[in-house]
Amino acid sequence: MRTTAGMSVRAFLRRVWPYVRPYRYRFLGGLVYLGLLAGLELTLPLWTKLAIDRYFVPGRWSAGVWLLGVYALTLGLIGLLQYLQGYFIDVTAYRAMRDLRCHTFRHLLTLPIAFFQRQPTGKLVTRVTNDVDALQEILGQGILSIIADVGTSVAIFGLLWWISPVLALSVTATALMVVGVSFLFQRYAQRAQEDIRTWLARLNGFLQEHIGGISTLQVHRAEAQAFRELQTLNQGYTQAYVSAVFHYAWYYPVIRALEVLTSVLVLVLGGWLFYEGRLTLGTLVAFFQYVQRFFEPLADLSDKYNAFLQAFVAEARIQEIHQTLSDPAYRGQPLNVTGPAPIAFRHVTFRYTPDGPWVLKDVNLVIRPGERVALVGPTGAGKTTLAALLLRLYDPTLGSIEFGHQSIQEVDARDLRRAIRMIFQEPFLFSDTALQNILLYRDGTARAELERWFQRLRHNALVRGLHQKLHETLHERGSNLAQSERQAIAVLRGIATDPRVLILDEALSALDPQTERDLYELIESVTRGRTVLLIAHRLYTLPAVDRVIVLWDGQIVEEGPPQELLRRDSVFASLLRVQALEAYGSGRPAAPEDPPAASEDA
Ligand SMILES: Nc1ncnc2c1ncn2[C@@H]1O[C@H](COP(=O)(O)OP(=O)(O)OP(=O)(O)O)[C@@H](O)[C@H]1O
Ligand SMILES: [Mg+2]
Repeated sequence: MRTTAGMSVRAFLRRVWPYVRPYRYRFLGGLVYLGLLAGLELTLPLWTKLAIDRYFVPGRWSAGVWLLGVYALTLGLIGLLQYLQGYFIDVTAYRAMRDLRCHTFRHLLTLPIAFFQRQPTGKLVTRVTNDVDALQEILGQGILSIIADVGTSVAIFGLLWWISPVLALSVTATALMVVGVSFLFQRYAQRAQEDIRTWLARLNGFLQEHIGGISTLQVHRAEAQAFRELQTLNQGYTQAYVSAVFHYAWYYPVIRALEVLTSVLVLVLGGWLFYEGRLTLGTLVAFFQYVQRFFEPLADLSDKYNAFLQAFVAEARIQEIHQTLSDPAYRGQPLNVTGPAPIAFRHVTFRYTPDGPWVLKDVNLVIRPGERVALVGPTGAGKTTLAALLLRLYDPTLGSIEFGHQSIQEVDARDLRRAIRMIFQEPFLFSDTALQNILLYRDGTARAELERWFQRLRHNALVRGLHQKLHETLHERGSNLAQSERQAIAVLRGIATDPRVLILDEALSALDPQTERDLYELIESVTRGRTVLLIAHRLYTLPAVDRVIVLWDGQIVEEGPPQELLRRDSVFASLLRVQALEAYGSGRPAAPEDPPAASEDA
């Protein structure tokens, strides 16, 4: 592995060891069996030598029958040891890699949101699946069989010198050539393996995203372009394999040629020594057998080395995930807010990237406990960003945010997110039942509460429909539901946890006005005494709130009770006017009193 080979392999083993460690006795057991197996296999040519020299050549056939028994016993033992070492070592590898998968996923769960915005999902999936599999293969039989092969070769080399130094000398010459060729080979092979895994991750990333968005491609007739992109990636992946194959293709025949050369040398030299009477026939046959055993693992080494390189590269990729630091937001103090608590933004200024534009500029805002606040403003004004800062999805670039007089930058984000719940406009639904999507793996009291809510809203057709489908398994991302149903699920999910602060980010935007009112009434009653921050676009269906905050280009330009803002010439009033005009201008009423869905229910 280049010049840093020794170090990298050591580092690799050091990083993999913690996963093997819990199963070390089983693993070591496998290793002992493997050693015994290799040793036993080495005795086989010695039995042959004995049979030929002591019984076959002198013609004492019957006296040597006992050797058949020994031979059969040795073969039986070899079979048993093969089974034992395979079982012990493979089981260790499977368990170790099961732990690695868990560990990697657990770590992913703690990574900052910005990490996932940078990384394609398919690439991360490749890390947890294909890359872990590659590692498993090498941990199973790979490393140990390399060790066993190298060990066997060294032992045989010693035996060859012991049997006949003259013959061993000729083998040594070709063995040196094999080592040289292998060294050359591995330099190219590693680069090829790195290429292969990079292309594989790219291909998986592309497929994951484009299969997920296939309906968008179909609807917008972009199939051809997507296909061309896939061809490019596919070609790159294939090319990476082709260049790898090239190296493997020359390596194997060269090794074979060296093996044949060695056999010829041994045959000619050994035949001459036998003729001269300096070597018995048995010794020559045994020597031949050893030479074959010597080359067998050497030739296999390229395949094993291939697997090892894959694992080596795969492990480095998995390491990239593990070396990404957990979100610092997860290392704070516990939140010590128990009762009603105010929220204060103090000179909050924020941008997403160090050289990006300022998204929030010196925002100062205090929200009293239990207050209902509507945050309005044009698109891109920074409303979602402001809410995201409160959840510590990001931290302010300048300024601070306090929750209950505790600076949230010092609070563990997990505590914070237990207290403050945000419902998004486009919620993510999992392919589980609607009920599980609402409870999100929580159980107990929330289930009974949920049933009460459904009863309370049973006059609403949408909620009633959802209640009937509660135990049906949803398709991926809830694609077999209407957006309104997905939003209703998200709202129930948000309030089911009884948060201290509830943020609705356009969370009711897909609902018809009547359902929006019904659900908001439910929210009102469930969150009595709790703080609600309502980010809303549709101002004419805005529910009753205590205060309206108008955010414009990252700055608060206006705030006050809605009635008061409407009375004067405010930004809020003009936004409302524009929306009403737009709605009437397109021939639609701004706020229908009795939409069809609602009147059906009445
Ligand atoms: N992850 C991100 N990285 C970089 N810039 C972002 C990111 N998310 C949002 N922005 C930018 O920040 C600005 C404010 O976005 P934000 O989503 O907060 O606006 P908003 O007021 O919620 O808009 P809307 O009403 O359309 O939801 C926008 O210019 C947007 O492009
Ligand atoms: Mg937004």
